[in-house]
Amino acid sequence: MSGPLPVVEARGLSKSYRTGFWKEPIHALVALDFAVFPGEVFAFVGPNGSGKTTTLKLLMGLARPSAGQIRLWGRSPTDVDVRARVGFLPEESYLPRFMTGREALDFYARLYRMGKRLRAERVEALLSQVGLADAAQRPIREYSKGMARRVGLAQALLNDPELVVLDEPTSGLDPLATREVKDLIVCLKQAGKTVIVSSHLLSDLESICDRLVILAGGCLKRQGAVVDLLTETHRTLLEIEGLARADLEALKTFVAGRGGRLVDAPPPRKTLEAVFLEAIGHTGETPNSQQPTANTKRQTPNINA
Ligand SMILES: Nc1ncnc2c1ncn2[C@@H]1O[C@H](COP(=O)(O)OP(=O)(O)OP(=O)(O)O)[C@@H](O)[C@H]1O
Ligand SMILES: [Mg+2]
Repeated sequence: MSGPLPVVEARGLSKSYRTGFWKEPIHALVALDFAVFPGEVFAFVGPNGSGKTTTLKLLMGLARPSAGQIRLWGRSPTDVDVRARVGFLPEESYLPRFMTGREALDFYARLYRMGKRLRAERVEALLSQVGLADAAQRPIREYSKGMARRVGLAQALLNDPELVVLDEPTSGLDPLATREVKDLIVCLKQAGKTVIVSSHLLSDLESICDRLVILAGGCLKRQGAVVDLLTETHRTLLEIEGLARADLEALKTFVAGRGGRLVDAPPPRKTLEAVFLEAIGHTGETPNSQQPTANTKRQTPNINA
């Protein structure tokens, strides 16, 4: 039986740029194969210059492959119907700095030919969703980097897209805002959307993405389900409550008797993110939770709003 059709499929996807006086080629992407399926959160990770943005530009039809091909729902990324089903947050958004956040979103909503009422509803819902409701009346030139990023994020969701493509969505955001973006991505997934995201901040992606591609120098280094990539099958992690540390020796002897070796038994540590969120009075769930936070200070994302 055949599985679901991929939302995105790339085969031998390559991109070279020619730069400088001698037009030396730069191989930004070399023969990349991947497929993204409906409802997945799929990530591209890799160091600076590894080809993440190039891949997303090819996916959005903003650049043409030098070789190979990429298809969205089996069609060209430049197909008008395909474009209507995709929302994109570029690495750098060019926002009209003289407009307020609300005006800018309304302006972009007009480009989608939304009616006045739907436009107003959608813009207000998105302003709350990205935590900008209080600053919606201020001009964008006064926004911090993180606030401007949120406008870009709201813009990417204006047309209620089936596929959301986010290039470094947490760039410039503080840990609380980063957490909210992660929650938003989880909400998008829960609403049945497909999300493709890039980042070089690995901790941002680990808890939210289903599958990922690791790029380096434009080449695919690893690909797979996060759970498979991160699981060490030859080790078992026990979390024990109420055991006196003195009894650890007995545990070691037991484990050794079964052919194993107790490698380490440190007391558990919080993450720096958890300590930060506690310190600023944010009482969410554990930072690595797969679920969105129920009680963020800003309005909980609700992408069906
Ligand atoms: N327009 C261009 N002209 C020439 N070279 C380019 C162009 N765009 C990208 N490159 C080169 O392609 C390679 C991949 O760049 P890309 O922007 O895709 O990397 P990235 O993984 O998104 O990096 P970052 O984490 O810094 O955003 C780099 O070597 C870059 O210099
Ligand atoms: Mg990039």
